[in-house]
Amino acid sequence: MKFVTSNKHKFDEISQVFNNAGIQIEWLKLKYDELQEDFTESISYKSAMALKEIIDGDFFLEDTGLYIRSLSGFPGPYSSFVSKTIFNDGLLKLLVGKDRGAYFKTVVSLCIDRRILQFGGILNGTIAETPSGENGFGFDPIFIPDGLNKTLADMEISEKNEFSHRSRAIKHALLFLKNNNSLS
Ligand code: IMP
Repeated sequence: MKFVTSNKHKFDEISQVFNNAGIQIEWLKLKYDELQEDFTESISYKSAMALKEIIDGDFFLEDTGLYIRSLSGFPGPYSSFVSKTIFNDGLLKLLVGKDRGAYFKTVVSLCIDRRILQFGGILNGTIAETPSGENGFGFDPIFIPDGLNKTLADMEISEKNEFSHRSRAIKHALLFLKNNNSLS
């Protein structure tokens, strides 16, 4: 099974989930154009539709967004843009005096036998007052999962994988693949 991403952090997290299940994945290190859409689901789906035309065989990719409740879900589907522009410091400034509840959503699109299936995973939490931690990537230093008092960047991959949005979505896809004997 091929995983398409140019992001090494995503590959490291996802390959660990597969390795723990005794399955190797192939890293197809490809940077593809993400169409800007209003939903993480449609960004993920349209990316898979485009890649279906150029990749032989089965593959999967994922798209992830950070949704901040008091900002009406922003940056959500615009997370990639925000991580290249105002990023964590800009989000922290936007949140002064506001509710800090947020969630990550990952949508995996699995292309199997030329059909596309989607699997989702959510992680609820709050946006920290200040960034913390050296691990992970993106918004990890400012995201505190519910029930914990440290950010995702304060954790090793194995701990993040116990409950993260990404590992939840991948575990759903993995279950489907196992039940359908579709692992190759
Ligand atoms: P993408 O479009 O799925 O690559 O994600 C959009 C942006 O969200 C990326 O540029 C990352 O900075 C950020 N991001 C994605 N996944 C995570 C995560 O698991 N933790 C923190 N930030 C993430």
